[in-house]
Amino acid sequence: MIERTAAVAALLVLTGLPAAAEQVGARAKGGFAESFFMETVPRAEAKATAEKLARAVIAARMIIFAYAGKFVDPALGDKGFSGEVFESQWRSAVEPDLIEATPGQKKIFEKLFWAGRQVIDNNQERLNTKGVGWKNFLPAKWEREMGQVFTARTGIVIKQPGRAYRSPMNAPDDTERSALGHYISAGHGENRPLTSYAKWGKQDVYRHMEPIRLIPPCLGCHGKPRGEPDMLGFEKDGLESGDIIGVMSVTIGLSD
Ligand code: HEC
Repeated sequence: MIERTAAVAALLVLTGLPAAAEQVGARAKGGFAESFFMETVPRAEAKATAEKLARAVIAARMIIFAYAGKFVDPALGDKGFSGEVFESQWRSAVEPDLIEATPGQKKIFEKLFWAGRQVIDNNQERLNTKGVGWKNFLPAKWEREMGQVFTARTGIVIKQPGRAYRSPMNAPDDTERSALGHYISAGHGENRPLTSYAKWGKQDVYRHMEPIRLIPPCLGCHGKPRGEPDMLGFEKDGLESGDIIGVMSVTIGLSD
């Protein structure tokens, strides 16, 4: 056994591979992958902007969820859910927030609508495929893809880290992990956002986190019994209606 370990170590030195103690595929230390913000808001507007963005993404999630039955119908071709259809429903859903938005917030909202619509347009071929039931499209996928497109245009980061995430894109960072822990231990009544100021690289940011709670239609995949495969083959989370599944996390760059 000892001989074998020595032989492996020798081989690693020869091939230039990292020694066993150095974990391969681990998260890099320090730095921030996203720290250049094309859109920033004054400190005084940060809270309201983050709240509006979180509300808008949750509204979009509900619009998409309402189409879930149509999306999985193998008999249907065109689902009638183009980017344009989606965007107009989304704009009406967030109209109150839009009306009283500042010019800076309106500009950010336009980029959000653009990003959300892009993702629905990008997924048309997938959504309109006939003869296939599950096409791997649901609100969380839209959010994940929309977040990437939106960040690319604004710098603002919107993500939904999960307590037992499926896509590695939804891995929580340290602040998000502690928010998840807080909401899990505080129970169903705690819905106040957790907010903080931080520095990402040289950029001052405002962070907003609020719980995403399960409702009965989510339980087929995120409910009980824990560990049993859901219809997609993921292990169910074992959660109940009202439990948190993840947090809506918004990070905005500050201009002052
Ligand atoms: C058909 C099964 C299914 C149903 C029903 C479902 N989800 Fe999910 N959920 C998934 C899958 C699959 C992912 C990973 C999606 C991705 O990132 O592509 C996911 C991801 C998520 C995430 C991101 C964190 C994570 O765990 O990866 C949240 C938050 C979430 N779902 C919330 C909900 C809520 C709230 C509902 C009900 C309104 C719901 N889900 C209903 C399958 C489901």
